[in-house]
Amino acid sequence: MLEWLKQPGFFGTHATLGADVSQLMATLFTGLFVIGWLQARRRKADSHHWLMLGGMAAMLAFFTSYYLFRQLGILAVEGKEGFGGSQALYDRVFIPLLTVHIILVIIGLVMAFYMIVLGFRSQTFLEGRRMLKNETMVLSRRRILAVFGGLTGLIALWVAYRFATAGFSVRKLEVYLSLLFLLAIVFSVELVIQRLWPNVERRHRVLGRFTMVIYCVLFVTGSVTYTMLYILYPGKIG
Ligand code: HEM
Repeated sequence: MLEWLKQPGFFGTHATLGADVSQLMATLFTGLFVIGWLQARRRKADSHHWLMLGGMAAMLAFFTSYYLFRQLGILAVEGKEGFGGSQALYDRVFIPLLTVHIILVIIGLVMAFYMIVLGFRSQTFLEGRRMLKNETMVLSRRRILAVFGGLTGLIALWVAYRFATAGFSVRKLEVYLSLLFLLAIVFSVELVIQRLWPNVERRHRVLGRFTMVIYCVLFVTGSVTYTMLYILYPGKIG
């Protein structure tokens, strides 16, 4: 499979098949989310719900399994030889762009989970019509801590199981600890978000728009990275 992903791609650029599949899927998912957003703006809440839920679930499944497969093999980690431009362009443009892209990927993944949960928590049905609840919905600090504690417990069990069956490794421990750290940040940010937008309808709209802006910028930074690596300045690997 890994060898297959390294074959030349189908867009006719210097990219591998893996990079082309990734770019194609990014285009499809971004298009799908924009359509889902337009449906919400037109008050077609049912199609919005299905497009967003299906799209986010498919995107999470695709990108996590795909990147696990490629072992996060984006050229960034493979170093400068993947990039054919000058050192200055690499240091001042390419690396900052890629860093922004990767940070947005992490925020985008967290927001996908978050918005799915918020979507269900904030919706209601009035005479069979799906809509957002125009009401205050704030979880107490205790409740948030309980959910966080529950998730930490589940992760700890999973880690213990993995170490018992596949052996201990510092690298794995680091990955799980980073995941816990990310969860702690998300739950702390949630406390602030609840204060800022206690009304759940408002919260869904504001954070939904924020998520959509992130996805659009992600698509732009991803496409510029692709263009630089595989069209404008192809390197040794591309
Ligand atoms: C997963 C990512 C999601 C994003 C990014 C998102 C984003 C948005 C945005 C931006 C709006 C307001 C549209 C506007 O005024 O500009 C909205 C409205 C809405 N969303 Fe979501 N949403 C998501 C998921 C969901 C889910 C899973 C549900 C249901 C379970 C849902 C139910 C609704 C409803 C009922 C509305 C109100 C539509 C109306 O005004 O009639 N959303 N969403």
